Order: sequence, then structure tokens, then C-alpha cells
Amino acid sequence: MSYQRERSVTGKSVLETENLLADQAGYARASTILHDGGLVAFPTETVYGLGGDARNDMSVARIFEAKGRPRFNPLIVHVDSVETAQLYVEWSDTADRLASIFWPGPLTLVLPLKPNTGLSALVTADLPTLAVRVPEHPVANALLAEFGGPVAAPSANPSGKISPTKASHVARGLSGRIDAILDGGDCGVGLESTIVGLAGQPTLLRPGGLPTEAIEAALGTTLDVFKSGDPLTAPGQMTSHYAPGAPVRLNATDLRDNEMLLGFGPVEATMNLSPSGDLVEAASNLFHHLHMMDSLGAEVIAISPIPDHGLGRAINDRLLRAAAPRP
Ligand code: TXA
Ligand code: MG
Repeated sequence: MSYQRERSVTGKSVLETENLLADQAGYARASTILHDGGLVAFPTETVYGLGGDARNDMSVARIFEAKGRPRFNPLIVHVDSVETAQLYVEWSDTADRLASIFWPGPLTLVLPLKPNTGLSALVTADLPTLAVRVPEHPVANALLAEFGGPVAAPSANPSGKISPTKASHVARGLSGRIDAILDGGDCGVGLESTIVGLAGQPTLLRPGGLPTEAIEAALGTTLDVFKSGDPLTAPGQMTSHYAPGAPVRLNATDLRDNEMLLGFGPVEATMNLSPSGDLVEAASNLFHHLHMMDSLGAEVIAISPIPDHGLGRAINDRLLRAAAPRP
């Protein structure tokens, strides 16, 4: 795989990745590793994140290296509270309304970056804005409390691959490339956070684990939608991401010879995201089922149509990327 090739090109020794339990000793060890500039994968309610100290350039650079992320794409900074977020970004009434309702939770806010925050410029890719969120997972919250600082964390998967919702997914993708994995069981939501830009007009930058409808109801207005990277465009225009080993065929209402079906609703399928057609259940199963279908050796993964409302919108966004042409 490309990240192994890259590893041998750089000639770096392979790390021994520590498996940490979600207990006081585990939090203390994880916090020490972060303070020393190391990388720790940890569970959030959305997916596992690959955490590094957001104030340390070396740590942040190592996040990109470990994922094999080809370019410096800005990262989300995870904090323990609204008060901590306010140290880093220019707060606003709109931010306050959304944070008071949805934090802690699967919502990331992009706000103007304050000057002289001490954050690594790599975190924001030198943008004048910063993405921040307060996660809602007891293990993430305990780690943030123990560490006492801002944690930059993209999803803990090799670049372009399926996001991890279990510690074993992280180990499969990043073992030997990161310092530790803090095992906190399965992630409940199963999709990355919804990202809303608040530097100008409130804008949906990425559909995710908090349905857009809930945000619009809280704001009493519709969100603008970020155009390039629009989730509802054709797979041919999307960047490949969340890609299982096998090719993916979407909106499958029949099954062809070389295919295994990942179903939704009452259909006969190899695996089913939600036999009862529940979008919340489907979201929480999505990445795990894609990992499983891959390990079952499907030649082609066919996927049932998913309704495009509520969490279905974020599920379809991820599926379009999984089906996009591979580089
Ligand atoms: O649920 C999540 O959000 C997970 C967990 C670990 O918190 N994290 C996550 O991170 O999905 P990542 O790096 O896979 O996705 C972060 C997204 C990227 O698409 C990035 O371009 C966008 O956030 N982003 C970060 N900072 C931004 C900024 N200042 N302006 C616009 N987009 C930004
Ligand atoms: Mg990601």
C-alpha cells in the first residue's frame, strides 16, 4: 500500500503502537504522549480521531505524515468547553446559539482565528479561520481534561480510506505509524461531525453526524451550501475518499453476478445498514459495514438507495466519495 511505500522511502523506523485502556492510567499515558509531541488515536462520538498537540508544529506535521495525507488540509481542534474555544476564535451570537444547543456533540464550527493563539499554523493551513468542536464521548472528554490543551485530530485512517469507528479499524490502518490507540469501544454516531462555517453567512461545509435540519431549525434560517465539493454532485466530480478495496455501485435495486449487496431497508443482502430503514442506525453502521464487506472479499460492493434527508444526506455524501474514481 502507498503509505507503506512512503514509510520505506523515508526510511523511518516503525513505531511500536501502544494499546491503552480507557482508564486513569490510559488517560495519563495518552496525555504524556501528547505533551511529548506524540500521536494518540482516541474515540469520539463520531469516529476515532488521530490526536496531536495543536500547539506543536512537529506533532501536527506528524499527523499528516502518519495518515499519508498528500497536502496540508486544515484540521479540527478539539477542546473541552466553549470557554476554551473562545481562546482561539472570535466568538459570535450565532456561534453561541449553536454551541449552547449542540455542544458537546457532532458539530464543528469554523470561525475567525484570533491572533497570537499559540496554535501551530499547520493546523489552519495558514487560513484566517479555525475549525473547533467540543466532542461528546466520555473517553475524549477525559483525555481532553487530562491533557489540558487543544488537540488537533483528523479521522484516524490512512488518507482516502474508510474512517474508523472501532479501535481495531485504527490498528488495521495506522499500527506502526502512531504512538498509541486509546480504546473506548465503538463510536455511536459513526459519521464525522457536521461542519458549519460562521466566518460569513452560516454555510454548510460538510454534512455529518448532526442533521442539517436541526441546525437550520436552531438558526431559524436555511444554511448556504458550500459549492465546490457539494455532496449532491455526481461521483465523477468527487474526490475519492472513504474507499473500500472493492469498487462501489450506488443506488442498487438489483444484484449483479460479481456483487455483494450492502442493503438498507427490507432487502436480502450480505450485510444491512438498517433492515428497518432507520437512518441513525445506518449512520452508525456505515463505516463498520464497509470495513466488513471489504474483508469478506466482495468483487463489487453494491449499495441500496439511501433517502437523502436527515443523516441520509451525510451517508450519501460519504457513499458518493467511496464510489468516486480512484486516483
Ligand atoms: O467528527 C469529526 O469531525 C472527526 C473527529 C475526529 O472529530 N474529525 C474529522 O477530521 O473528520 P477530518 O480532518 O477528517 O476532517 C476535517 C475537515 C476537512 O475536510 C477540512 O478541510 C475541514 O474540516 N476544515 C478544517 N479546518 C477548516 C477551516 N478553517 N475552514 C474550512 N474547512 C476546514
Ligand atoms: Mg477524514
